[in-house]
Amino acid sequence: MGARVFALVLAALLTGCGGEEPPLALAAESPKPGEAEVIAELIALTKEASLEARSEAQEDDASASRVLRFNQPKHSGCLQAEFRVLPDLPEALRVGMFAEPRAFPAWIRFASATAGPDTQKDFRGMSIKLMGVPGEKLLGAGDTQDFLLNSHPVLFVGTPEDFRDFVETSLDTHPAVFFLNPLKPHFKEFGIVREGRQHHASPLSIGYWSTTPYLLGEGQAVKYAAFPCQGVSAPELPDPLTDGYLRDAMRETLAAGGACYDFMVQTQVDAEAMPIEDATVEWDTALSPWQAVARIEIPSQGFESARQMAFCENLAFNPWRSLPEHRPLGGINRARRELYEALAEFRHGNNGVTYEEPDGNESF
Ligand code: HEM
Repeated sequence: MGARVFALVLAALLTGCGGEEPPLALAAESPKPGEAEVIAELIALTKEASLEARSEAQEDDASASRVLRFNQPKHSGCLQAEFRVLPDLPEALRVGMFAEPRAFPAWIRFASATAGPDTQKDFRGMSIKLMGVPGEKLLGAGDTQDFLLNSHPVLFVGTPEDFRDFVETSLDTHPAVFFLNPLKPHFKEFGIVREGRQHHASPLSIGYWSTTPYLLGEGQAVKYAAFPCQGVSAPELPDPLTDGYLRDAMRETLAAGGACYDFMVQTQVDAEAMPIEDATVEWDTALSPWQAVARIEIPSQGFESARQMAFCENLAFNPWRSLPEHRPLGGINRARRELYEALAEFRHGNNGVTYEEPDGNESF
C-alpha cells in the first residue's frame, strides 16, 4: 500500500470509516449533486408561472398584456436615496464597498410579493441598487451593486429543490398541497408563510432581511438587513384597508419629510447553528448581533409620474450584480444567478423593453 493510500485509509478509520462529515468551515458552501438540473427546471417553471399569472390577469382585464415579475410584481414605488457607509467600522467589516466611509446614490424599489390588492396579507420587498460602485462585478458590466431584501427574517423554503417543488405543485394543483401533503409535508415552511404574510402599515416603516448569506471578504459570511432608523414613527394601519394604501402611506411619509434606514450585517460565527445552505433558519442574534454598516437616507420626493412608474416596472435586480467580496452564498443564492437573469430577459423580451442599468442621472 502506498503512503498516500495508507494516509487516506487511516484518515477514514479515524473519522469513523467515512461515516461522519468533516465539520463545516465558516462561509463554506456545500452544493448537492444535481443542482444544475434543479435550477434549469426552476427557470422553466417560473417562466410558465409568469405566463399563467398574465393569463389570469387577462381574465379580469383583457388589456393586461405585460409579463410581470414572478415575485414582487406590484410596486408601491421606486425612490431615490443615498447610501452612506459609516465611518469607524470594525476592521473585519471594512471590506469591499464598506472599506471606506463614502456615499453612493441609490434607487430603491418597494414592492409586494403578489399582484393582489393591498387588502391581502403579503410579504414585501426592498430592492436596493447602488450606483457608482467601482470595480469588476460577478455579473454584468457597470458600476451598480444590488441588495435584495424581504420583509421577514427567513425565506419560506430552504433550498432550490424545495422552491422547485413549491412552484411545480402550485402550477399542477394548489400551493397548499406543497405545504400540507401528508406524504411529504412542509409544516415548518407553512408556519413561515403564515407568520411572514402581514398587513404592513407602510413600506417605509418595516424591517427587511436578506434571509440568505453573502461573503464579506474571504472566509467571512454575513446576512443583511435594513431597519427603520430609531425614532421614526410608523403610521397606523388604515381602517378600512384599501387596495392601494401602501402607496398612499409612502406618499404621505415622503411629503412629510422623508425616510431613513440603518443597513446592517450579521456575521456567521457558528457554521452549524447559522447554516449557509438553509434559508429557513434565522441566525440567532444572541450568537451574533446585527451591526450597522451604512445609513440609507430617502429624501422627500415625488415618485408617481407615469415615466417614473414605467422605469420602476422595468428595473431589474440580481444579487449577483455584486463585487466579488460580497459574493452570494448558499443554494438559494446560487439558483438566483441564472434565474433572475433569465426571468428579467424573458419579462423585458415579452414586453418589448430594451433594458439599460440606471446610472443615477435619471430624472422624471
Ligand atoms: C430560489 C429562490 C428564489 C426564487 C426562485 C426567486 C425568484 C424571483 C424572480 C423570478 C424574480 C423576478 C426577477 C425579474 O423578473 O427581474 C424575483 C424578484 C425578487 N426577489 Fe426573488 N426569488 C428567490 C429568492 C429570493 C430571496 C431569498 C429574496 C430576498 C430575501 C428575494 C427577493 C426578491 C425581491 C425583493 C425581488 C424583486 C426585485 C425587483 O424589485 O425587481 N427572492 N425573485
